[in-house]
Amino acid sequence: LPPDQQQMIEAHELLRKFYHHLLLNTKEGQEALEYLLNRGFTKESIEKYQIGWSLPNWDFSVKFLQKRGYSLSLMEKAGLIIKRDSSEEYFDRFRNRIMFPLWDHKGNTIAFSGRAFGQDEPKYLNSPETVLFNKSKTLYNFHHARAPIRKLQKAVLFEGFADVIASDRAGVANGIATMGTSLTDEHIRILKRITDTVTVCYDSDSAGIEAAFRASNLLANNGFNIEVAQMPDKMDPDDHIKKYGGEKFRNDVLGNCMTFMSFKMFYYRLGKNLSNEGERLQYIEMLLNEISALDKAVERDHYLRQLADEFSLSLEALKQQQQQIFFSRK
Ligand code: CTP
Ligand code: MN
Ligand code: MN
Ligand code: MN
Ligand code: MN
Repeated sequence: LPPDQQQMIEAHELLRKFYHHLLLNTKEGQEALEYLLNRGFTKESIEKYQIGWSLPNWDFSVKFLQKRGYSLSLMEKAGLIIKRDSSEEYFDRFRNRIMFPLWDHKGNTIAFSGRAFGQDEPKYLNSPETVLFNKSKTLYNFHHARAPIRKLQKAVLFEGFADVIASDRAGVANGIATMGTSLTDEHIRILKRITDTVTVCYDSDSAGIEAAFRASNLLANNGFNIEVAQMPDKMDPDDHIKKYGGEKFRNDVLGNCMTFMSFKMFYYRLGKNLSNEGERLQYIEMLLNEISALDKAVERDHYLRQLADEFSLSLEALKQQQQQIFFSRK
């Protein structure tokens, strides 16, 4: 690495250790620590994920870094501090936040995400894009999860890194997350090198379901086998684990996933009133289109039967219409 980048990483490592120390060993950090413990974070996960807390001061890290000989303009490029508009002064980017280090795939700290624990906005503040940190290439927890993903031949993709940490506590070691952005082609390329199978386990609110639909399609179009998890009551994985415990999460959520086709059925019927004839026919047609795109005859048969059963339709008629769609595409 060029010396500049090496220094940026060093600065991140020093701050990571200091934030972690502040959280665990100081009186000032106590409120943040209590917040985390109340949310169900354990000492073990705080340790493993090197979670910390940043002081409310405006210039704590400016002074911390200056004292250790780092160039402030370089630290600004690293995203750790911000330059005031009309002066040579700098101030801290992260103040009074729970600090989550973000790692590159080798385990170097290259950025932070800071969570507010009062009313501060935004909820999560991330480092900006820098020469070290590129969101569209970063998968949270990849350096821990890589070996388990290889071994299990499956990755579990979450929406938030709090979900990764909670599920790790629940015994799920192959979890990763994007950094609040959609899944990109670059993420896909990174994953593809180590597995062909992904469980999509996004939040079960409407934003999460939309994002899961997009991510699933991108994964499927890139040749992944996928399954999709859903939780009750618009929960996210972290909520579910806190409320019901790790075993129920593994069994009832991850152990009870939908196939991609079942997820499409679930997705297409959201917001539709299937007792309305027009909407029902529209839904059936959408599914026939999807079923026609399936490669395996057995799968096509399976879902056609399911449709026939649910809507008391003749299997013959469904098959006929599906075949029409199938041949009109060839
Ligand atoms: N996110 C972000 N900026 C925000 C809100 C969210 O970057 N203001 C990103 C974070 O990476 C977060 C992810 O989007 O992990 C998912 O958002 P959300 O579901 O709102 O957060 P949770 O992971 O559920 O966080 P928490 O449980 O702490 O509320
Ligand atoms: Mn420690
Ligand atoms: Mn969400
Ligand atoms: Mn969430
Ligand atoms: Mn959450």
